[in-house]
Amino acid sequence: MRPVIDIRNVHRIFESEAGCAHILHNVSLAVDPGEFVAITGPSGSGKSTLMNILGCLDKPTAGDYYLQGLNVAELDDDELTEVRALSIGFVFQSFNLLPRLSVIENVMLPLSYTNVPRSQREMRAVHALQAVTLPVDHWDHRISELSGGQMQRVAIARALVNDPPIILADEPTGNLDSATGALVMETFHKLQERGKTVVLITHDPGIAAEADRAVTIRDGRIHDGAYITHVPYTLHGAVSSLPAIDVPSTPSKGAKA
Ligand SMILES: Nc1ncnc2c1ncn2[C@@H]1O[C@H](COP(=O)(O)OP(=O)(O)OP(=O)(O)O)[C@@H](O)[C@H]1O
Ligand SMILES: [Mg+2]
Repeated sequence: MRPVIDIRNVHRIFESEAGCAHILHNVSLAVDPGEFVAITGPSGSGKSTLMNILGCLDKPTAGDYYLQGLNVAELDDDELTEVRALSIGFVFQSFNLLPRLSVIENVMLPLSYTNVPRSQREMRAVHALQAVTLPVDHWDHRISELSGGQMQRVAIARALVNDPPIILADEPTGNLDSATGALVMETFHKLQERGKTVVLITHDPGIAAEADRAVTIRDGRIHDGAYITHVPYTLHGAVSSLPAIDVPSTPSKGAKA
C-alpha cells in the first residue's frame, strides 16, 4: 500500500537577521491511507512546523514530500492551492477563524477555492456543522460570540466541508474541557471509520493513545512511534484508563520505512 503522506529526510531552517534556526532535523514519516497517527512532543519541539509542511502551507528547506504519490516540490502555486483545497482539511492550533463572519460563512470559506456550485455550499456547511454537533441556533452567530470549544468545533467543520481524504489537526482538543474533548475525538474516530487519514498533534498522552500510532518529536527530531494495537474508545471515561504510550528514549532515523 502506498503511503498517503510520505516525508523523507526533511529539514526546516528558518533564516532571519538574527541567524538561522534549524527546527526540523532529518524528519521522515510515512502515513498509510486510513491510518490515525498522533504526533506528540514538548512545546517548541517543531510539531506545528512539521504540520505546516504536511499541509503544504510551508516547504521543507531540504528533503522530499510525496503527498498521495505527488512530489510536492514539483507543484506550482496553483497546483498547491488545488491540492490543499481537495485533499487536506487543516484544523489550526489557533483556529484561524474570521471573527466578523458568521459560523456558517466561516465553514463555507474553503469552498470558495473549489468549483462546488453555490447552491451546494450551504448544504455542505450544514452537514459539516451537524457532524461536529454545533447547536443549530449558533450557526448564524459571529465567531467572536462563541466559546473556545464551540470555535474549535467550527474549525473542525471548516476542515471537513470539502470532504478531504486527509485531516490534519493541530491540538484540536488543547483548549477544551475533557467532555468536549471526548466529543471532538469521537468526530475524528468517525472520520477514520469513513476512510479518512488523520494526523493529530496533541500534548495529551491519553488522546495520543486513542490513535493507531503515536510519533514523538523532541528538539525537531522524530522518534519511532510506539505501535499500539487497536484500543477501544468510548465517549466518557475511557481516555484516562488507557495505557500510557511507551516512547523509546533513543532517537532514530524515522518513524516508518
Ligand atoms: N517562521 C518562523 N521563524 C523562526 N522560527 C520559527 C518559525 N516558526 C516556528 N519557529 C520556531 O520553531 C520552533 C518550533 O515551533 P513550533 O511552532 O513548530 O513548535 P510546537 O512543537 O508546535 O510547539 P507548541 O506545542 O507550543 O505549539 C520554536 O522554537 C519556534 O520559535
Ligand atoms: Mg504548535
